[in-house]
Amino acid sequence: MTVDTLPMTTDSPAAAPARFPTGFVWGAATAAYQIEGAADQDGRTPSIWDTFARRPGAVRNGDTGDIAADHYHRYRDDVALMSELGLRAYRFSLAWPRVQPGGRGPANEAGLDFYDRLVDELLAAGIDPVATLYHWDLPQELEDTGGWTDRDTAYRFAEYAHLAARRLGDRIPTWTTLNEPWCSAFLGYGNGVHAPGRTDHAAALTAHHHLLLAHGLGTAALRAELPDTAQVSLTLNLAAVRPLSTDPADLDAARRIDGLANRIFLDPVFRGSYPEDVLADTAHVTDWSFVRDGDLAEISRPIDSLGINYYTPTVVAAEEQPAADRSGSGGSGGDGGSGAVGTEPADAQRGDGHQGGSPWPADQGIRFLPAPGTRTAMGWPVDADGLYELLTRLRDDLPGVPLLVTENGAAYEDYTDPSGAVHDPERIDYLHTHLAAVHRAIADGAPVRGYFLWSLLDNYEWAYGYSKRFGIVHVDFASQRRTPKDSAHWYARVIRDGALPQ
Ligand code: FCB
Repeated sequence: MTVDTLPMTTDSPAAAPARFPTGFVWGAATAAYQIEGAADQDGRTPSIWDTFARRPGAVRNGDTGDIAADHYHRYRDDVALMSELGLRAYRFSLAWPRVQPGGRGPANEAGLDFYDRLVDELLAAGIDPVATLYHWDLPQELEDTGGWTDRDTAYRFAEYAHLAARRLGDRIPTWTTLNEPWCSAFLGYGNGVHAPGRTDHAAALTAHHHLLLAHGLGTAALRAELPDTAQVSLTLNLAAVRPLSTDPADLDAARRIDGLANRIFLDPVFRGSYPEDVLADTAHVTDWSFVRDGDLAEISRPIDSLGINYYTPTVVAAEEQPAADRSGSGGSGGDGGSGAVGTEPADAQRGDGHQGGSPWPADQGIRFLPAPGTRTAMGWPVDADGLYELLTRLRDDLPGVPLLVTENGAAYEDYTDPSGAVHDPERIDYLHTHLAAVHRAIADGAPVRGYFLWSLLDNYEWAYGYSKRFGIVHVDFASQRRTPKDSAHWYARVIRDGALPQ
């Protein structure tokens, strides 16, 4: 897949059925810890998620990824399923503690062998492998020495990138350094609902910077090992931020969250600087002295495309308070108590929060509100316009940067009926409206080159354990039986036709 060379459709935007450009990449996505299982096999060591999952109360039902969807042993069957669906590309992640146990030292050839087999199986089926290096499973040993708050972790990441690319780079055409560093930093170190479960907003901003540094150093490492034709990318869960009203206080709330969700990534990566307003907004949390000379040049190394994960929009408003209380930064400035952001802080904007404190380092005086409309089983409002807004904003803000939707999908309460079928009309509806939004964005000039549905399989949904099903293929975790849901058949038809049904 070369995402920068696809011919764009010349169809009129209004043409029906909604036909996608020739060469549009149709894919599905997963992540290592969520599906692989085999947690202690062939030399894999624990990641921060193995540790966090065992912390009482951290994960629903105490679920772990020890077995997950057992993809480590069933990858052949899973690739066969992908092939039946007609997938053109498969986005998966490598487990760092499998490739380089403990996060230091030489590669673990037995761990790399698994990805070797998987990649060969994919290629034999005509499916392009799209590999993410880091989908949240930091080797525990690196957390023990500070994790992402330790600058050295960024250098360790670059070393891991070298090892992975050296072995697999001849066959994987597209690489992504990080998946959703917002979650790694702000949920991992900010409100602690993700591993490693730390609650310190200064640490979250430090982790944020070191993750971006890892992205930059990792990009250089990949380029050093990969053929010139390889594509290097980064995946962000950017927020479609909407102010509740045009009241200046609500507009300012939207500016602040846009800064902390979007520009805190886009500016350093694409412009080589941090936004001044974000530095000012967070000055009571940190002095940013962890940013060293040369870091931003490293972070802003050119990449070939940007991956976007989108699920639901983020609606914000200023807290309803007497004006006197609202002035200044206010609030505790430290631990982000949940009272500061309304009743469902992280759930309202990303869904991963339970009732933890705020993930945001500087959101005092801001309320997060659900968008109107129906909700998924995560409680996330269904709003496809947010995806359109995001893609067209990036068209304008990042001219010439090819975009990939690297995750989009929905959890619902799926079950297998007595005939063995899984009917999931809500998911089909979700996918249909979101793909229509992608189509509309393309017709309006957004350079979207592909779409990866989240997820291929039901899997381990982080702090929600196995209680949330995002797959288009149902997994019975007791028997590990796979059953394509109605949405899988629907998606296969969309891929076959290159168009949405009318
Ligand atoms: C994203 C994650 C992915 C999955 C979906 C639902 O934030 O990247 O692993 O959990 O949300």
